[in-house]
Amino acid sequence: MSLRIPSIRHEPFDELSALAKAGGDPLRLNVLRALAHASFGVLELAQIFDIGQSGMSHHLKVLAQAGLVATRREGNAIFYRRTLPERSQLGGRLHRALLEEVDALALPAEAQGRIAVVEGQRAATRKDFYSRMEDKFRAQQALIAGLPQYRDSLLALLDERTFGPGATALEVGPGDGGFLPDLAQRFERVTALDNDAAMLEMARAQCRTHGLANVELQLADALGELPLAADCVVLNMVLHHFSDPRRALLRLAGRVQPGGSLLVTDLCSHNQDWAREACGDLWLGFDQEDLARWATAAGLVPGESLYVGLRNGFQIQVRHFQRPAGDTHHR
Ligand SMILES: C[S@@+](CC[C@H](N)C(=O)[O-])C[C@H]1O[C@@H](n2cnc3c(N)ncnc32)[C@H](O)[C@@H]1O
Repeated sequence: MSLRIPSIRHEPFDELSALAKAGGDPLRLNVLRALAHASFGVLELAQIFDIGQSGMSHHLKVLAQAGLVATRREGNAIFYRRTLPERSQLGGRLHRALLEEVDALALPAEAQGRIAVVEGQRAATRKDFYSRMEDKFRAQQALIAGLPQYRDSLLALLDERTFGPGATALEVGPGDGGFLPDLAQRFERVTALDNDAAMLEMARAQCRTHGLANVELQLADALGELPLAADCVVLNMVLHHFSDPRRALLRLAGRVQPGGSLLVTDLCSHNQDWAREACGDLWLGFDQEDLARWATAAGLVPGESLYVGLRNGFQIQVRHFQRPAGDTHHR
């Protein structure tokens, strides 16, 4: 008996069918929608969609096999995010169209409500951490990376820029206010926003010690609806505390005046899971390219960057992004 050798190869069709299969389920489409502006862990997604963890793991596996989601491991936690469609690849147009159609729909109200609950849990973890750490703050922050390690690099980038007389600065999350004297010296007015009253008290003490008369401290969430903009917006070791840093960057970039600067200091990606426990970090640093991409999407132009290697194996990135002078509509 002669063996029939198949003359038709199916692989490309297999890939397309994996994509179609992944998109062929309402729950999976809802998961893609939920991941449009955030990255969630499997337990969080199971909570949001009110199904068991193993059921959710199965759906995520199907989405991952189709290349619709990717994972990012942070210590023991695995976060899922959407992937970008690649037009030139097989299925790229279908992938893009699927996301566009999905994004045109709203998540069911129950799922939206549970996302708010998950966000509330994350925020409570952060707040709890900060209130417990109040007096140990300096030591804990210095455990990984503190202002003394990145101050010179940050000032080097800052002092390369020319700001006119009357220029203003906004520091988000000043913590104990260690950088405020440097800003107060260079800008006519400085505003510092922190959503933690205990931190703000420490910053206030710093202002008193240095006699800073041009610094205003505000107890507020930096992502709230505040009519605040400045010529220079500074984020030192803050971005990794936001659950959705891409969105936070987009929002905070909106506070940069045309021609102004955004300075971001944060850790480069790392895998030291204990930082989450010890320092309340939601993100274990950032991929340098992610930051540049997010800033570009927010209408900023990536400028120079400095990297500070530390003896403890961590690395700090100090980044400058500029809003073009004529850009008055990006808010
Ligand atoms: C790790 S500390 C960094 C402090 C300081 N910039 C430094 O580099 O030492 C993060 C700071 O951001 C503040 N923060 C976190 N989320 C915030 C938010 N949504 N709005 C305003 N401040 C926030 C915290 O209260 C804290 O003071």
